[in-house]
This record gives sequence, structure tokens and C-alpha cells, in this order.
Amino acid sequence: MRTQVCIIGGGPSGLLLSQLLHRKGIDTIVLERKTRDYVLGRIRAGILEVGFTDLMREAGVGARMDAEGFKHDGTVIAYGEEEFGVSFHEHTGTDVLVYGQTELTRDLYDAREAEGGNLVFNVENVKIHDAKGAAPYVTYQVDGGEHRIDCDYVAGCDGFHGVSRQTIPLTVRREYEKLYPFGWLGVLSETPPVHDELIYSWSERGFALCSMRNANLSRYYIQCSLSDAPQDWSDEAFWSELKRRIPSRYADALVTGPSIEKSIAPLRSFVTEPMRWGRLFLCGDAAHIVPPTGAKGLNTAASDIHYLYHGLMQFYQDGDSTGLDAYSEKALARVWKAERFSWTTTNLLHRYPDQSEFDLKMQRADIDFLRSNVAAQKVFAENYVGLPY
Ligand code: APR
Ligand code: PHB
Repeated sequence: MRTQVCIIGGGPSGLLLSQLLHRKGIDTIVLERKTRDYVLGRIRAGILEVGFTDLMREAGVGARMDAEGFKHDGTVIAYGEEEFGVSFHEHTGTDVLVYGQTELTRDLYDAREAEGGNLVFNVENVKIHDAKGAAPYVTYQVDGGEHRIDCDYVAGCDGFHGVSRQTIPLTVRREYEKLYPFGWLGVLSETPPVHDELIYSWSERGFALCSMRNANLSRYYIQCSLSDAPQDWSDEAFWSELKRRIPSRYADALVTGPSIEKSIAPLRSFVTEPMRWGRLFLCGDAAHIVPPTGAKGLNTAASDIHYLYHGLMQFYQDGDSTGLDAYSEKALARVWKAERFSWTTTNLLHRYPDQSEFDLKMQRADIDFLRSNVAAQKVFAENYVGLPY
């Protein structure tokens, strides 16, 4: 088989790139290790920056997102019983959209399938060959059969555990990582959200987040120990802990119900450099991970796709490879700033096992400064809605 761009990974990054390129007449094949249902079964983030929503519309898949997504023009930050709002609209003139990753991934799959996109599921043993040469190719197996795809470029959209990043030799690749001494336990429940805005809550017992997907689907998180497992937490234990970590007026109003999903994610910051090696380009989680505080994971994937899409378009339409040559530098410049925001917001709101009384006072002062200082709120809001591409 031959294609112009071979895309490894059928998560949001790979599907969005494939759909955008398809609309410009650029041919792609997407290779996905799992099934469509498996990918759609993963519950991930749900806050979209304007840059992401613009890309979805440009890809021709914005209709359901625009009809069903909820605009959020601010968020609540709580500290014990205290709380204040940060307005996005007032400080940036824009907002974010609440629309789950599961839904937008479904929209992308539907569009790719309706438009005859070439998606191959259940691929095994994907290998990228000659990425540094003029004629790269990708080999893989499905049901024991060997396949080969020749292409101009390879897009590594295969997430943190994929093969693309590993293809770049260690003599070239440099990785930067920070592990946090806690995880997030997340619960999805068919209950109305406790509040119409998200609540990021500092508490003595650890961080909590109240989020949502729609009017009858709530997403809640609590900071937990890295040694915890989801089965250690009954629904009752989760709800009772969440209530102890949010201001009592929300705790009293919280509607609880059976969890329909419960999972734990460790928190990590990770960046690999460079994001391009010859004809291989890394995008999304394949190149970087952020802790979820601030909802930047999916949105950094979107900015990568934006830069790569424009670089590929420039190449195929004008024979100009300037955009592709600048890809790694441009993508990383934005990624590092999203890493910085996710890291500072995580530090601001979580309890660390080794925190001293001094550290706690600093955290308190930081939160107080954010509450009382317009410039600090503007900085927070600008980062939250997403820095410009
Ligand atoms: N071959 C083919 N596919 C692979 C391979 C492989 N060797 N390894 C992984 N994959 C697939 C995974 O099964 C997954 O469906 O690549 C896909 C990567 O998808 P994601 O992990 O979702 O990464 P990405 O598309 O970059 O999405 C960005 O933002 O909110 C965050 O982590 C969240 O998933 C989200 C991410
Ligand atoms: C979510 O709704 O899953 C969510 C929202 C905001 C975050 C992280 C996760 O910062």
C-alpha cells in the first residue's frame, strides 16, 4: 500500500490530522492498535480551547460539538470554605467549551468512516523504517498477516506508550520528566453537576475537582495516593471524601449516584525533544504529557496537529517545506508553556506528602494573590483558555 501520510494511532490526534488532511485532498492511512470501541471506552478530559474547536470546524466535524458543547466563561477556585471565580471572558474575551474527548473522538471516527477514510484496527508490531531517508515505510501485522505502507511522511500519534517516540535514537532524543507523588481518582456518574462551572478545590485532605460532561453527566476527581487502586474506593467512600474536600455549600448540594466509570491516573509531566526526526513527526501524548490540572492534555495535542497540518499543506500545495522544518521548534515552544501552566496549577492546589508549614503558607499566599490580583487572574485566564498558536 502507498499513502502520503501514514498516521500511527487512532486517538484524537491521529483522527483529527487524518480528517483535516483528507479535506485538503491529502491521503492518509491510520493504524490503530485497539478497536474503535476500546478507544471510545476510555474516559478522558473534556475542556476544549478555542484553537481546538476551530480545528474541529475546519475538519468539518464541528456540528455536534457546537450543538451539544457547553461554553464556560469562568471557573471557581476554592480553598477550604473560601471560594472565588476567575472569569475567562472578562480577562481574555473568550471562553472554553465543555465537550468530552469520547464525543469528539466519536465524531471524528464517524466522519472518517463516512468519507471512506482508511482506518486499520487491531494492528500489531508496528515498525517505522527509514524515517531519516527519502522513502520511509511502515510495517505491521493484522491477524498474523504482514503489511507494508510506503509513504512520504509518518505522523506518530500513538500516545505515551506508542512506538513512534522509541523510533528516534537515544543519541538524538532527550526526555524531560517529572513524576508527582499522587494520582487522581476519577468518577463519572449520571447525576447533575454540582455547579454550572468547574470547581478546582484545595483542601487540607487533598485536591478535588468538580467537572461535568452534560446536564446529567458529572465528572469528579479527588487526589489520591499512588498506591490506591480503583477497587479500594467504594462509591460511598468516594462521595464522602469528595464532600469533605469542597466548600460545604457544594457538599450539601452534591447529588450522588452509582459510578459508571472509576479510574486512577498518576500525574506526570513529560516532554521529548525533538518532535521531528527526518520524516517522522510526533504529535500529542506521543511527545508530551501534562498533569490534568488545567486541562491541557488534549489541547496541546491540538496545537501540534495545527502546526503539522499547516506544514503538510504548505508542502503538498506549494512544495514548500518551511512549515515542516519549523514544526518541532514551534510545537515545543507552545508545549513548554502548557507544561508550565499545568505544573504551577498542580503545585498550587495539591497536598504534597512532604509539605512543610512554610510550603503551606506559600500555597495559601499564592491562592490569595490569585483571588485578589487582577493581573494574576488575567495570567491564569489566558493560560486556561489557551495561548495563541
Ligand atoms: N500502534 C498503533 N496504535 C497505537 C500504538 C501502536 N504501537 N500504540 C498506541 N496506539 C494507539 C492507542 O491505542 C491510542 O488509541 O494510539 C492512540 C493514541 O491515542 P491517545 O493516547 O489518546 O493520544 P492522542 O491521540 O495524542 O490524544 C491526546 O490528550 O487529554 C489527553 O491523554 C489524553 O488521550 C488524550 C490526549
Ligand atoms: C474533566 O472534565 O475530565 C477535566 C476537567 C478539567 C481538568 C481536568 C479534567 O483540569
